[in-house]
Amino acid sequence: MTAENQKDKKVIFSGMQPSGNITLGNYLGALKNWTKLQDEYNCVFCIVDLHALTVRQDPAELRRRSREVLMLYIAAGLDPEKNIIYYQSHVGAHAELAWILNCYTYMGELNRMTQFKEKSQKHSENINAGLFTYPVLMAADILLYQANLVPVGNDQSQHLELCRDVAIRFNNLYGETFIVPEGYFPKVGARIMSLQDPTKKMSKSDENENSYITLLDSPDTILRKIKKAVTDSEAKIAYRDEQPGIKNLLNIYCSITEEPIEKVVERFSSLGYGELKAKVAEVVVEELRPIQERFYQLEKDKSYIDSIIKNNAERASRIAYKTLSKVQRKIGLPAKIR
Ligand code: TYM
Repeated sequence: MTAENQKDKKVIFSGMQPSGNITLGNYLGALKNWTKLQDEYNCVFCIVDLHALTVRQDPAELRRRSREVLMLYIAAGLDPEKNIIYYQSHVGAHAELAWILNCYTYMGELNRMTQFKEKSQKHSENINAGLFTYPVLMAADILLYQANLVPVGNDQSQHLELCRDVAIRFNNLYGETFIVPEGYFPKVGARIMSLQDPTKKMSKSDENENSYITLLDSPDTILRKIKKAVTDSEAKIAYRDEQPGIKNLLNIYCSITEEPIEKVVERFSSLGYGELKAKVAEVVVEELRPIQERFYQLEKDKSYIDSIIKNNAERASRIAYKTLSKVQRKIGLPAKIR
């Protein structure tokens, strides 16, 4: 059964930018969750390469990373036949619907987006219009597939709210056109923090490589980065906001093992920070080991990956253009003569 032919199932859409190496934050906040949802829902998982252009990218690196993210989706356990896994830029309908939705989104709404404010501070030399309208393209991504649910980390909740507002506005003007999607956030792991500054989220674009773990980091690198993780001087293992470094390590541990936080805190209460870090590093290494093995296997199979890229772009296009035509008709664009 594939995403197209299970009519009774609800639809999930989500995506990741190929703007850096996929981090443990991306994995625990999103990708790990996706793999659990793939049986229950019709899933569409995108590599949002157009979104990555909002920050200057090296062309060869962007191409390499896009393929790496696609292979990591599969290596993490997403079935490319059951789910639709594809590049955003291979389905022109995303950019077309984004243009239309731009005309139904207010400047004031986009001005409020915290990610825009953060990114324009960070890239003050390149505050481009794409960075500003980024959430509109994200809304187009989701609405094209009539998604019911969008599994993301907490940092995307404001964008999702905007998507819902735009969908409701459009439906009110033209009648039921879009499904209004809901966010789906993990209980633990929705916000994994930087290992170097646990008050900031772990981010693939952080300049300090020690602040994040990538899905392809070697066991030694993982151990080294976790050993260097910033903690505190309390010398007490507790899950509380006053100890953000320790809280983050416990979050990482529990979102991997899926054990309740209280149980783990109790079990680890007599450990020193060094011992806690060793335990965390061990579960991270073991979680990533099979993903890395599959990734390096897939990397060798160029023609298999190429066929996935081709077939999935076609599958995605069929769904996306159906929604786009409906929108075009509703707003009064002239029908194509066939
Ligand atoms: P991106 O590429 O920044 O992140 C991909 C996913 O990872 C989650 N995430 C985190 N979760 C927990 N802790 C963290 N430190 C952490 N960092 C990132 C993000 O919440 C996200 O789920 N705008 C999106 C991509 C996008 C998209 C979409 C998502 C474009 N169109 C449509 C869903 C639906 C983004 O930049 O994700």
